Amino acid sequence: MSDREVFEPLARGALVPNLASYRRLHARSLEDPDTFWAEEARNLHWKQPPPSGAPLLTYNLDPSRGQVFTRFMPGAITNVCYNALDIHVLRGNGDRVAYFCEGNDPKDVATVTYKELLGLVCRFANVLKKHGIKKGDSVLICMPMVTEAVVGMLACARIGAVHSVVFAGFSADSLAERIYDCRAKIVLTVFAFWRGTKLIELKNIIEDALHKVETKYTYKINKCIVLPHINTVATANGGDPKVRASWNNARDLWWVDECETVDNFCQVEWMDAEDPLFILYTSGSTGQPKGVVHTTAGYLVYASTTFKYVFDYKPSDVYFCTADVGWITGHTYLVYGPLANCATSVLFSGTPFHPDNDRFWDIIAKYRVSIFYTAPTAIRSLMKFGDEYVKRHDLSSLRILGSVGEPINREAWLWFRSVVGNNKCSIVDTYWQTETGGHIITPLPGATPMKPGSASFPFFGVEPTLLDDNGAIIKGPGEGYLVFKRPWPGIMRTILNNHKRFQETYFAKFPGYFFTGDGARRDQDGYLWITGRVDDMLNVSGHLMSTAQVEGALAEHSAIAEAAVVARPHPIKGESLYCFVTVNKTHRFDNVLAQELKKLVRDKIGAFAAPDEIQNAPNLPKTRSGKIMRRILRKVATGDRDVGDTSTLADENVIEELFANRRP
Ligand code: WT7
Repeated sequence: MSDREVFEPLARGALVPNLASYRRLHARSLEDPDTFWAEEARNLHWKQPPPSGAPLLTYNLDPSRGQVFTRFMPGAITNVCYNALDIHVLRGNGDRVAYFCEGNDPKDVATVTYKELLGLVCRFANVLKKHGIKKGDSVLICMPMVTEAVVGMLACARIGAVHSVVFAGFSADSLAERIYDCRAKIVLTVFAFWRGTKLIELKNIIEDALHKVETKYTYKINKCIVLPHINTVATANGGDPKVRASWNNARDLWWVDECETVDNFCQVEWMDAEDPLFILYTSGSTGQPKGVVHTTAGYLVYASTTFKYVFDYKPSDVYFCTADVGWITGHTYLVYGPLANCATSVLFSGTPFHPDNDRFWDIIAKYRVSIFYTAPTAIRSLMKFGDEYVKRHDLSSLRILGSVGEPINREAWLWFRSVVGNNKCSIVDTYWQTETGGHIITPLPGATPMKPGSASFPFFGVEPTLLDDNGAIIKGPGEGYLVFKRPWPGIMRTILNNHKRFQETYFAKFPGYFFTGDGARRDQDGYLWITGRVDDMLNVSGHLMSTAQVEGALAEHSAIAEAAVVARPHPIKGESLYCFVTVNKTHRFDNVLAQELKKLVRDKIGAFAAPDEIQNAPNLPKTRSGKIMRRILRKVATGDRDVGDTSTLADENVIEELFANRRP
């Protein structure tokens, strides 16, 4: 990793054409944020603009001065769905393609225009209304990457319902916890779907989850609306023997049937600027998921503005974001950001490896994609198949490449640029979080000279600061905690039903600042390099989870007395889970137990959380006060004997034992 390796930006005729104009605009956005954001908000529709003279962005980030809050455009009235669809149709762009839908099977394709999408959304919004959904009600969406997932989200936004999308790879336990936490009234899902060659019987997972919701939390949802997707009603009645049919006549409804009996127009519900738009769960360091709440006006303006500048979006572009709708990237840069800009996107529901390892490249060539946004873990896993898979396809339409989810290593960055981008594309390494709503540190493709692995500079209105352990500001080159002195319109507003936890998680460590949980380094040119999480969080293939969450799952096994989990660097996944378990006196550690524990974590959290290694640890390295020293466990996991200072350990002999039982 070299600080001095620099690549010139390649996007010609960009909205922000050079570094000087970025610097000028950024300075202006900090000096007078209200003018900057008012200008950006002008492209959107406001049923009622904010009262004149009132400040647009107000906040308090210091809990000692009262409640932490951020408000943007209070008093303004709008509707996010109206801005995503209606205005484009009204302005004569109804026939523009909103999504090229590409299924798991390359032959399974469809096109949806803005006008068609509006029709689908109106109908489905009426279905939700028919079943009693009103402004402020929660609707949980657990679906793969099908058009109807987007339809469900926009239908909620249209009528003021709050959607909570949960990734369709979570276990029934994780789902149940989320359904209950947001008190979802309706659940939207699909019967079954293919992920590569694997059939996922999602409705059955939902069934298990709903059973848990009723027995464990004594809560009941009203309706579950099911998209047949594949394996239609016929299958439910015994078509494909692989699919086990589970159906509850009093509660379950078929999506298609419901849409047949409703009106094809639905008036929008006009919303206050600070009304919630959606909840999205993210992992918390206690293991309890946090329902991150995003609101209307600030999120909309921020999603729209970041999409426009960071991808240098032009009406001639075709945009392809590979993120799942279940994550924040899917929300901001697959749905709201692109739609607010009337963009044409590819919505892909398969995997990069099916039917072969060139699926992404095939899609880029097929739709002449010009902006491609993906994750380092995908880049690394595709790299290993060799350049031929890429070279087989004409990728000359590409002009901008994006990366998100974790720090991108230099090797992957260079491969992305030279092999995928043929040395002709700018790369935007976008740093952000579920909490931030949109990009906060990122290059701009026409302006920022790129350093491989550096997310570079803050977006407009964003002011990053590095702090040391004592909370003192680090000026110039240095490394520390990444914090933000002021909010931007798209920052989260609270944790659902738990404002106290919101304040404690993000504002207690450094009062007056929003703390990301990440560390960063600033080099001599002012570039920021994200160094990763400084809290007990793990990032496996871009999925964030906490050590506590995995430890909690392991501890549920009757054989386990105690568990400690650390991240171990992994060539493809970025990080992988390495678990240390102490077995009860009544049990023995063996391979069977290790397999059971892996399965338990999958069942409790989801397949993406499956541990790579389980190590027998008759003793864990603890301080005299009983705190587990994860720093030492990380050294054991990587096989690094240089464990550093061990003087605070209660028993130093533990270290030898840990190394003796180490998994290769
Ligand atoms: C965490 C947030 C943002 C959408 C996907 C993940 C890490 C994300 C980068 C990047 C270095 C990154 C951070 C962050 N991260 N993007 N470009 N460079 N690290 O959303 O699940 O909320 O995870 O992902 O550690 O805190 P998330």
